[in-house]
Amino acid sequence: MSQGNMTYIKDIHEFDGQEVMLQGWLAGHRSGGKVQFLSFRDGTGFIQVVASKSELPESLWLNIKELTLESSLRLSGRCRKDARAPSGYELELTDLEVVQTAEEYPISRKEHGTGFLLDHRHLWLRAKRQQAILKIRHQVINASRRFFDERDFVLADTPIFTPNAVEGTTTLFETRYFDETAYLTQSGQLYNEAVAMAVGRTYCFGPTFRAEKSKTRRHLIEFWMVEPEVAFAELDEIVSLAEDLVAYVVESVLENRREELDVLERDVTKLESVCKPFVRITYDQAVELLKEKGSEIEWGSDFGAQDETFIGEEYDRPVIVTHYPTAVKAFYMEPDPSRPEVALCVDVLAPEGYGEIVGGGQRIHDLALLRQRVEEHQLPEEAFSWYFDLRRYGSVPHSGFGMGIERVIAWICKLDHLREAIPFPRMLNRLAP
Ligand code: 4AD
Ligand code: MG
Repeated sequence: MSQGNMTYIKDIHEFDGQEVMLQGWLAGHRSGGKVQFLSFRDGTGFIQVVASKSELPESLWLNIKELTLESSLRLSGRCRKDARAPSGYELELTDLEVVQTAEEYPISRKEHGTGFLLDHRHLWLRAKRQQAILKIRHQVINASRRFFDERDFVLADTPIFTPNAVEGTTTLFETRYFDETAYLTQSGQLYNEAVAMAVGRTYCFGPTFRAEKSKTRRHLIEFWMVEPEVAFAELDEIVSLAEDLVAYVVESVLENRREELDVLERDVTKLESVCKPFVRITYDQAVELLKEKGSEIEWGSDFGAQDETFIGEEYDRPVIVTHYPTAVKAFYMEPDPSRPEVALCVDVLAPEGYGEIVGGGQRIHDLALLRQRVEEHQLPEEAFSWYFDLRRYGSVPHSGFGMGIERVIAWICKLDHLREAIPFPRMLNRLAP
Protein backbone atom coordinates (compact mmCIF):
# COMPACT_ATOMS: atom_id res chain seq x y z
CA MET A 1 0.00 0.00 0.00
CA SER A 2 1.19 3.50 -0.67
CA GLN A 3 1.48 6.01 2.09
CA GLY A 4 -0.84 8.68 3.43
CA ASN A 5 -2.43 9.44 6.76
CA MET A 6 -4.85 6.81 8.02
CA THR A 7 -8.10 8.64 8.68
CA TYR A 8 -11.88 8.36 8.86
CA ILE A 9 -14.35 9.68 6.31
CA LYS A 10 -15.80 12.09 8.87
CA ASP A 11 -12.35 13.73 9.27
CA ILE A 12 -11.43 13.78 5.60
CA HIS A 13 -11.91 17.54 5.31
CA GLU A 14 -8.67 17.93 7.28
CA PHE A 15 -6.74 16.43 4.37
CA ASP A 16 -7.88 18.44 1.35
CA GLY A 17 -5.53 17.75 -1.57
CA GLN A 18 -3.48 15.20 0.39
CA GLU A 19 -3.07 11.46 0.18
CA VAL A 20 -4.98 9.49 2.85
CA MET A 21 -5.71 5.89 3.74
CA LEU A 22 -9.15 4.58 4.68
CA GLN A 23 -10.38 1.20 5.80
CA GLY A 24 -13.93 -0.01 5.45
CA TRP A 25 -16.38 -1.78 3.17
CA LEU A 26 -17.60 -1.54 -0.38
CA ALA A 27 -21.18 -0.23 -0.35
CA GLY A 28 -21.70 0.17 -4.08
CA HIS A 29 -19.95 -0.17 -7.42
CA ARG A 30 -20.62 1.39 -10.81
CA SER A 31 -18.51 1.24 -13.91
CA GLY A 32 -18.25 3.99 -16.51
CA GLY A 33 -15.81 2.58 -19.07
CA LYS A 34 -12.45 4.13 -18.19
CA VAL A 35 -13.50 5.04 -14.63
CA GLN A 36 -15.11 3.03 -11.88
CA PHE A 37 -17.01 4.63 -9.04
CA LEU A 38 -16.95 2.94 -5.67
CA SER A 39 -19.25 3.89 -2.84
CA PHE A 40 -17.17 3.27 0.25
CA ARG A 41 -18.21 3.35 3.90
CA ASP A 42 -16.16 3.16 7.07
CA GLY A 43 -18.80 3.53 9.78
CA THR A 44 -18.24 7.27 10.12
CA GLY A 45 -19.64 8.09 6.70
CA PHE A 46 -19.83 7.32 3.01
CA ILE A 47 -17.51 8.62 0.29
CA GLN A 48 -17.28 8.21 -3.47
CA VAL A 49 -13.98 6.74 -4.64
CA VAL A 50 -12.99 7.30 -8.27
CA ALA A 51 -10.73 4.72 -9.90
CA SER A 52 -9.29 5.85 -13.27
CA LYS A 53 -7.86 3.30 -15.68
CA SER A 54 -5.17 5.72 -16.81
CA GLU A 55 -3.89 6.27 -13.24
CA LEU A 56 -3.72 2.66 -12.04
CA PRO A 57 -1.66 -0.43 -12.86
CA GLU A 58 -3.55 -2.80 -15.17
CA SER A 59 -3.77 -5.63 -12.57
CA LEU A 60 -5.24 -3.34 -9.92
CA TRP A 61 -7.76 -1.94 -12.42
CA LEU A 62 -8.91 -5.48 -13.21
CA ASN A 63 -9.11 -6.42 -9.51
CA ILE A 64 -11.34 -3.44 -8.84
CA LYS A 65 -13.70 -4.60 -11.58
CA GLU A 66 -14.16 -7.88 -9.73
CA LEU A 67 -14.83 -6.35 -6.29
CA THR A 68 -17.92 -7.72 -4.61
CA LEU A 69 -20.38 -5.78 -2.47
CA GLU A 70 -19.41 -5.56 1.23
CA SER A 71 -15.85 -6.71 0.64
CA SER A 72 -13.57 -5.23 3.28
CA LEU A 73 -10.88 -2.95 1.89
CA ARG A 74 -8.00 -0.63 2.67
CA LEU A 75 -7.57 2.20 0.22
CA SER A 76 -5.23 5.03 -0.52
CA GLY A 77 -6.20 8.02 -2.51
CA ARG A 78 -6.00 11.74 -2.99
CA CYS A 79 -8.69 13.68 -1.26
CA ARG A 80 -10.47 16.19 -3.47
CA LYS A 81 -13.19 18.71 -2.70
CA ASP A 82 -16.43 17.97 -4.51
CA ALA A 83 -19.40 20.15 -3.75
CA ARG A 84 -21.79 17.52 -5.15
CA ALA A 85 -20.59 14.75 -2.85
CA PRO A 86 -22.54 14.19 0.39
CA SER A 87 -19.33 14.29 2.46
CA GLY A 88 -18.10 17.30 0.46
CA TYR A 89 -15.14 15.24 -0.79
CA GLU A 90 -14.27 12.40 -3.08
CA LEU A 91 -11.19 10.21 -3.24
CA GLU A 92 -9.05 9.63 -6.34
CA LEU A 93 -7.89 6.08 -5.85
CA THR A 94 -4.14 5.40 -5.90
CA ASP A 95 -4.00 1.97 -4.28
CA LEU A 96 -6.30 -0.67 -2.84
CA GLU A 97 -5.86 -3.78 -0.72
CA VAL A 98 -8.62 -6.34 -0.27
CA VAL A 99 -8.88 -7.52 3.33
CA GLN A 100 -11.55 -10.07 2.50
CA THR A 101 -13.54 -10.70 -0.66
CA ALA A 102 -17.17 -10.92 0.36
CA GLU A 103 -19.35 -13.78 -0.83
CA GLU A 104 -22.47 -12.79 -2.73
CA TYR A 105 -24.20 -10.33 -0.38
CA PRO A 106 -27.77 -11.36 0.41
CA ILE A 107 -29.14 -7.83 0.83
CA SER A 108 -29.40 -6.13 -2.53
CA ARG A 109 -30.75 -2.79 -3.66
CA LYS A 110 -34.13 -4.25 -4.48
CA GLU A 111 -36.90 -4.15 -1.89
CA HIS A 112 -36.83 -6.90 0.71
CA GLY A 113 -39.65 -7.98 3.00
CA THR A 114 -39.38 -7.19 6.71
CA GLY A 115 -39.11 -10.88 7.64
CA PHE A 116 -36.11 -11.29 5.36
CA LEU A 117 -34.48 -8.15 6.70
CA LEU A 118 -35.04 -9.19 10.31
CA ASP A 119 -33.54 -12.63 9.57
CA HIS A 120 -30.51 -10.73 8.28
CA ARG A 121 -30.52 -8.10 11.00
CA HIS A 122 -26.78 -8.68 11.59
CA LEU A 123 -26.18 -7.46 8.01
CA TRP A 124 -29.15 -5.09 7.68
CA LEU A 125 -27.49 -2.88 10.34
CA ARG A 126 -24.96 -1.85 7.66
CA ALA A 127 -27.62 0.01 5.66
CA LYS A 128 -27.32 3.80 5.74
CA ARG A 129 -30.74 4.16 7.32
CA GLN A 130 -29.99 1.62 10.05
CA GLN A 131 -26.66 3.28 10.81
CA ALA A 132 -28.49 6.59 11.20
CA ILE A 133 -30.94 5.03 13.66
CA LEU A 134 -28.08 3.45 15.64
CA LYS A 135 -26.42 6.84 15.97
CA ILE A 136 -29.61 8.53 17.07
CA ARG A 137 -30.11 5.74 19.61
CA HIS A 138 -26.64 6.46 20.92
CA GLN A 139 -27.52 10.15 21.18
CA VAL A 140 -30.80 9.47 23.02
CA ILE A 141 -29.05 7.23 25.55
CA ASN A 142 -26.16 9.59 26.02
CA ALA A 143 -28.39 12.63 26.44
CA SER A 144 -30.53 10.79 28.99
CA ARG A 145 -27.48 9.90 31.06
CA ARG A 146 -26.08 13.41 30.79
CA PHE A 147 -29.41 14.88 31.86
CA PHE A 148 -29.37 12.96 35.14
CA ASP A 149 -25.65 13.36 35.70
CA GLU A 150 -25.95 17.14 35.36
CA ARG A 151 -28.65 17.07 38.04
CA ASP A 152 -26.55 15.02 40.48
CA PHE A 153 -28.57 11.84 40.27
CA VAL A 154 -26.59 8.78 41.38
CA LEU A 155 -26.61 5.97 38.83
CA ALA A 156 -27.32 2.67 40.56
CA ASP A 157 -27.96 -0.47 38.59
CA THR A 158 -30.82 -2.71 39.56
CA PRO A 159 -30.91 -6.51 39.14
CA ILE A 160 -32.23 -8.37 36.12
CA PHE A 161 -33.09 -11.60 37.97
CA THR A 162 -35.84 -10.77 40.44
CA PRO A 163 -38.12 -12.74 42.74
CA ASN A 164 -41.34 -10.81 41.99
CA ALA A 165 -43.45 -8.74 39.59
CA VAL A 166 -43.46 -4.94 39.37
CA GLU A 167 -45.81 -4.21 36.51
CA GLY A 168 -48.47 -6.89 36.77
CA THR A 169 -48.12 -10.64 36.53
CA THR A 170 -49.42 -11.15 32.99
CA THR A 171 -46.19 -10.07 31.29
CA LEU A 172 -43.72 -11.80 33.62
CA PHE A 173 -40.88 -13.82 32.12
CA GLU A 174 -40.26 -16.81 34.26
CA THR A 175 -36.93 -18.59 34.44
CA ARG A 176 -35.10 -21.07 36.67
CA TYR A 177 -32.68 -19.70 39.24
CA PHE A 178 -31.04 -22.89 40.53
CA ASP A 179 -33.79 -24.39 42.68
CA GLU A 180 -35.96 -21.29 42.71
CA THR A 181 -38.22 -19.53 40.25
CA ALA A 182 -37.00 -16.12 39.13
CA TYR A 183 -38.45 -13.47 36.84
CA LEU A 184 -36.67 -11.18 34.43
CA THR A 185 -37.12 -7.61 35.61
CA GLN A 186 -40.01 -5.57 34.21
CA SER A 187 -38.65 -2.37 35.75
CA GLY A 188 -35.94 -1.36 38.24
CA GLN A 189 -38.39 0.80 40.14
CA LEU A 190 -38.75 -1.09 43.41
CA TYR A 191 -34.99 -1.26 43.87
CA ASN A 192 -34.70 2.38 42.79
CA GLU A 193 -36.99 3.26 45.68
CA ALA A 194 -34.55 1.61 48.09
CA VAL A 195 -31.61 3.46 46.54
CA ALA A 196 -33.50 6.78 46.65
CA MET A 197 -33.88 6.35 50.43
CA ALA A 198 -30.07 6.03 50.54
CA VAL A 199 -28.89 8.77 48.17
CA GLY A 200 -32.00 10.91 47.59
CA ARG A 201 -31.93 11.08 43.80
CA THR A 202 -31.07 8.03 41.74
CA TYR A 203 -31.60 6.53 38.33
CA CYS A 204 -31.10 3.17 36.71
CA PHE A 205 -30.71 2.44 33.04
CA GLY A 206 -30.97 -1.04 31.72
CA PRO A 207 -32.80 -3.69 29.80
CA THR A 208 -36.27 -4.68 30.97
CA PHE A 209 -38.44 -7.60 29.90
CA ARG A 210 -42.12 -8.07 29.26
CA ALA A 211 -43.69 -11.23 27.93
CA GLU A 212 -46.08 -9.23 25.73
CA LYS A 213 -48.18 -11.85 24.04
CA SER A 214 -49.68 -9.56 21.43
CA LYS A 215 -47.98 -8.33 18.31
CA THR A 216 -47.97 -4.55 18.16
CA ARG A 217 -45.69 -1.98 16.64
CA ARG A 218 -45.20 -0.40 20.08
CA HIS A 219 -44.11 -3.42 22.09
CA LEU A 220 -40.85 -5.25 22.37
CA ILE A 221 -40.16 -8.21 24.64
CA GLU A 222 -36.82 -6.73 25.66
CA PHE A 223 -36.49 -2.96 25.82
CA TRP A 224 -34.37 -0.37 27.58
CA MET A 225 -35.67 1.99 30.18
CA VAL A 226 -34.17 4.93 32.04
CA GLU A 227 -35.81 5.30 35.44
CA PRO A 228 -35.25 8.12 37.93
CA GLU A 229 -36.53 8.00 41.50
CA VAL A 230 -36.57 10.99 43.86
CA ALA A 231 -37.06 11.01 47.64
CA PHE A 232 -39.48 13.67 48.93
CA ALA A 233 -40.73 14.40 45.38
CA GLU A 234 -44.49 14.55 44.85
CA LEU A 235 -46.30 14.17 41.55
CA ASP A 236 -45.74 17.73 40.26
CA GLU A 237 -42.01 17.55 40.70
CA ILE A 238 -41.69 14.31 38.79
CA VAL A 239 -43.96 15.58 36.01
CA SER A 240 -41.62 18.55 35.50
CA LEU A 241 -38.62 16.25 35.55
CA ALA A 242 -40.15 14.07 32.81
CA GLU A 243 -40.98 17.14 30.74
CA ASP A 244 -37.44 18.48 31.12
CA LEU A 245 -35.92 15.11 30.18
CA VAL A 246 -37.97 14.63 27.01
CA ALA A 247 -37.29 18.22 25.86
CA TYR A 248 -33.58 17.79 26.60
CA VAL A 249 -33.26 14.55 24.66
CA VAL A 250 -35.07 15.92 21.59
CA GLU A 251 -32.94 19.06 21.65
CA SER A 252 -29.76 17.02 21.92
CA VAL A 253 -30.68 14.94 18.86
CA LEU A 254 -31.59 18.07 16.89
CA GLU A 255 -28.29 19.67 17.82
CA ASN A 256 -26.01 16.72 17.15
CA ARG A 257 -27.70 14.38 14.68
CA ARG A 258 -28.97 16.55 11.81
CA GLU A 259 -27.22 14.43 9.21
CA GLU A 260 -28.85 11.25 10.50
CA LEU A 261 -32.28 12.91 10.65
CA ASP A 262 -31.72 13.92 7.01
CA VAL A 263 -30.91 10.34 6.03
CA LEU A 264 -34.22 9.33 7.62
CA GLU A 265 -35.97 12.19 5.80
CA ARG A 266 -37.40 13.25 9.14
CA ASP A 267 -39.46 16.45 9.12
CA VAL A 268 -37.44 18.27 11.81
CA THR A 269 -39.96 21.09 12.20
CA LYS A 270 -42.10 18.52 14.03
CA LEU A 271 -39.27 17.97 16.52
CA GLU A 272 -38.44 21.65 16.79
CA SER A 273 -41.92 22.34 18.13
CA VAL A 274 -41.26 20.01 21.07
CA CYS A 275 -40.79 22.88 23.54
CA LYS A 276 -41.74 23.32 27.14
CA PRO A 277 -44.34 23.65 28.49
CA PHE A 278 -45.94 20.45 27.19
CA VAL A 279 -49.71 20.13 27.24
CA ARG A 280 -51.06 18.96 30.64
CA ILE A 281 -54.44 17.29 30.98
CA THR A 282 -56.05 14.91 33.43
CA TYR A 283 -57.39 11.47 32.58
CA ASP A 284 -60.91 12.93 32.98
CA GLN A 285 -60.21 15.58 30.35
CA ALA A 286 -58.63 13.01 28.05
CA VAL A 287 -61.76 10.84 28.27
CA GLU A 288 -63.93 13.87 27.38
CA LEU A 289 -61.69 14.62 24.43
CA LEU A 290 -61.90 11.03 23.20
CA LYS A 291 -65.68 11.01 23.52
CA GLU A 292 -65.90 14.22 21.48
CA LYS A 293 -63.88 12.47 18.81
CA GLY A 294 -66.38 9.63 18.74
CA SER A 295 -64.56 7.08 20.90
CA GLU A 296 -66.66 4.62 22.90
CA ILE A 297 -64.33 4.81 25.88
CA GLU A 298 -65.96 4.84 29.33
CA TRP A 299 -64.48 6.42 32.43
CA GLY A 300 -62.51 3.77 34.26
CA SER A 301 -60.87 1.90 31.42
CA ASP A 302 -57.25 2.27 30.45
CA PHE A 303 -56.35 3.84 27.12
CA GLY A 304 -55.66 1.57 24.20
CA ALA A 305 -53.05 2.33 21.56
CA GLN A 306 -55.73 3.97 19.40
CA ASP A 307 -56.84 6.27 22.25
CA GLU A 308 -53.26 7.34 22.92
CA THR A 309 -52.80 8.06 19.23
CA PHE A 310 -55.95 10.22 19.14
CA ILE A 311 -54.86 12.24 22.18
CA GLY A 312 -51.29 12.66 20.94
CA GLU A 313 -52.39 13.80 17.50
CA GLU A 314 -54.35 16.70 18.97
CA TYR A 315 -51.17 18.59 19.83
CA ASP A 316 -47.83 19.49 18.28
CA ARG A 317 -45.89 18.56 21.42
CA PRO A 318 -46.03 15.78 23.99
CA VAL A 319 -49.13 15.54 26.19
CA ILE A 320 -48.84 14.89 29.92
CA VAL A 321 -51.81 12.92 31.24
CA THR A 322 -52.20 12.61 35.01
CA HIS A 323 -54.67 11.09 37.49
CA TYR A 324 -55.67 7.83 35.83
CA PRO A 325 -58.15 5.60 37.65
CA THR A 326 -56.35 3.84 40.50
CA ALA A 327 -57.92 0.55 39.45
CA VAL A 328 -56.09 0.38 36.09
CA LYS A 329 -52.68 1.22 37.53
CA ALA A 330 -49.99 -0.78 39.33
CA PHE A 331 -50.30 -1.67 43.03
CA TYR A 332 -47.75 0.90 44.25
CA MET A 333 -49.50 4.05 42.96
CA GLU A 334 -50.38 6.68 45.59
CA PRO A 335 -54.09 7.52 45.48
CA ASP A 336 -55.04 11.18 45.23
CA PRO A 337 -55.93 12.08 48.87
CA SER A 338 -58.88 14.21 47.76
CA ARG A 339 -60.16 11.59 45.30
CA PRO A 340 -58.81 8.13 45.99
CA GLU A 341 -60.41 6.62 42.88
CA VAL A 342 -57.66 8.31 40.84
CA ALA A 343 -53.91 7.89 41.30
CA LEU A 344 -51.09 10.43 41.48
CA CYS A 345 -49.61 9.09 38.28
CA VAL A 346 -48.38 10.40 34.97
CA ASP A 347 -48.01 9.20 31.40
CA VAL A 348 -46.36 11.28 28.72
CA LEU A 349 -47.77 10.66 25.25
CA ALA A 350 -45.67 11.51 22.20
CA PRO A 351 -47.11 13.42 19.25
CA GLU A 352 -47.58 12.00 15.74
CA GLY A 353 -49.32 8.89 17.02
CA TYR A 354 -46.42 7.34 18.97
CA GLY A 355 -48.28 6.89 22.24
CA GLU A 356 -46.84 6.52 25.73
CA ILE A 357 -43.15 7.25 26.11
CA VAL A 358 -43.05 7.85 29.89
CA GLY A 359 -44.97 6.23 32.74
CA GLY A 360 -44.61 6.90 36.45
CA GLY A 361 -45.96 8.71 39.46
CA GLN A 362 -45.95 9.02 43.22
CA ARG A 363 -45.50 5.85 45.26
CA ILE A 364 -47.48 4.75 48.28
CA HIS A 365 -45.36 5.54 51.33
CA ASP A 366 -47.74 4.35 54.04
CA LEU A 367 -47.08 0.77 55.16
CA ALA A 368 -50.69 -0.21 55.91
CA LEU A 369 -52.01 1.01 52.56
CA LEU A 370 -49.17 -0.65 50.64
CA ARG A 371 -49.83 -3.99 52.37
CA GLN A 372 -53.50 -3.68 51.53
CA ARG A 373 -52.71 -3.07 47.85
CA VAL A 374 -50.32 -6.01 47.63
CA GLU A 375 -53.11 -8.15 49.01
CA GLU A 376 -55.75 -6.71 46.66
CA HIS A 377 -53.48 -7.37 43.69
CA GLN A 378 -52.94 -10.92 44.96
CA LEU A 379 -49.19 -10.50 45.04
CA PRO A 380 -47.06 -12.74 47.28
CA GLU A 381 -46.44 -10.81 50.50
CA GLU A 382 -43.18 -12.59 51.35
CA ALA A 383 -41.54 -11.34 48.17
CA PHE A 384 -42.28 -7.76 49.19
CA SER A 385 -41.05 -7.88 52.78
CA TRP A 386 -37.90 -5.90 51.93
CA TYR A 387 -40.03 -3.38 50.02
CA PHE A 388 -42.28 -2.96 53.06
CA ASP A 389 -39.14 -2.18 55.11
CA LEU A 390 -38.73 1.02 53.11
CA ARG A 391 -42.06 2.11 54.67
CA ARG A 392 -40.91 1.06 58.14
CA TYR A 393 -37.66 2.96 58.37
CA GLY A 394 -37.95 6.65 57.56
CA SER A 395 -40.64 6.46 54.91
CA VAL A 396 -41.14 9.64 52.85
CA PRO A 397 -43.26 10.63 49.87
CA HIS A 398 -41.32 9.79 46.71
CA SER A 399 -41.88 9.61 43.00
CA GLY A 400 -40.27 8.42 39.82
CA PHE A 401 -40.90 7.33 36.25
CA GLY A 402 -39.59 5.21 33.43
CA MET A 403 -38.90 6.42 29.92
CA GLY A 404 -38.86 3.73 27.25
CA ILE A 405 -35.82 4.35 25.08
CA GLU A 406 -37.08 2.56 21.96
CA ARG A 407 -40.40 4.40 22.08
CA VAL A 408 -38.53 7.70 22.14
CA ILE A 409 -36.22 6.63 19.30
CA ALA A 410 -39.13 5.38 17.19
CA TRP A 411 -40.86 8.73 17.61
CA ILE A 412 -37.78 10.89 17.00
CA CYS A 413 -36.85 8.84 13.92
CA LYS A 414 -40.51 8.44 12.86
CA LEU A 415 -40.17 4.66 12.54
CA ASP A 416 -43.14 2.47 11.62
CA HIS A 417 -42.27 -0.08 14.27
CA LEU A 418 -40.15 -0.32 17.43
CA ARG A 419 -38.16 -3.20 15.96
CA GLU A 420 -35.85 -0.82 14.09
CA ALA A 421 -35.11 1.20 17.24
CA ILE A 422 -32.93 -1.49 18.83
CA PRO A 423 -29.98 -3.30 17.21
CA PHE A 424 -31.32 -6.82 17.78
CA PRO A 425 -35.06 -6.73 18.53
CA ARG A 426 -36.67 -9.39 20.68
CA MET A 427 -40.29 -9.82 19.66
CA LEU A 428 -43.07 -12.33 19.87
CA ASN A 429 -41.79 -15.30 17.81
CA ARG A 430 -38.38 -13.76 17.19
CA LEU A 431 -35.29 -14.60 19.21
CA ALA A 432 -32.68 -14.59 16.42
CA PRO A 433 -30.26 -13.38 15.30
O1 4AD B 1 -45.45 2.41 32.03
P1 4AD B 1 -44.45 1.37 32.42
O2 4AD B 1 -44.90 -0.03 32.47
O3 4AD B 1 -43.89 1.84 33.84
C1 4AD B 1 -43.01 1.16 34.62
O4 4AD B 1 -42.43 0.13 34.33
C2 4AD B 1 -42.66 1.89 35.89
N1 4AD B 1 -42.32 0.91 36.92
C3 4AD B 1 -41.53 2.83 35.63
C4 4AD B 1 -41.16 3.66 36.83
O5 4AD B 1 -42.02 4.36 37.34
N2 4AD B 1 -39.92 3.62 37.26
O6 4AD B 1 -43.20 1.44 31.44
C5 4AD B 1 -42.47 2.63 31.32
C6 4AD B 1 -42.20 2.94 29.86
C7 4AD B 1 -43.44 3.16 29.03
O7 4AD B 1 -43.90 4.49 29.13
C8 4AD B 1 -42.94 2.85 27.64
O8 4AD B 1 -42.23 3.98 27.12
C9 4AD B 1 -41.94 1.76 27.88
O9 4AD B 1 -41.55 1.85 29.23
N3 4AD B 1 -42.49 0.42 27.61
C10 4AD B 1 -42.17 -0.34 26.56
N4 4AD B 1 -41.35 -0.13 25.51
C11 4AD B 1 -41.23 -1.11 24.60
N5 4AD B 1 -41.85 -2.29 24.68
C12 4AD B 1 -42.67 -2.57 25.71
N6 4AD B 1 -43.24 -3.77 25.78
C13 4AD B 1 -42.86 -1.57 26.71
N7 4AD B 1 -43.58 -1.49 27.86
C14 4AD B 1 -43.34 -0.29 28.39
MG1 MG C 1 -47.39 2.63 31.41
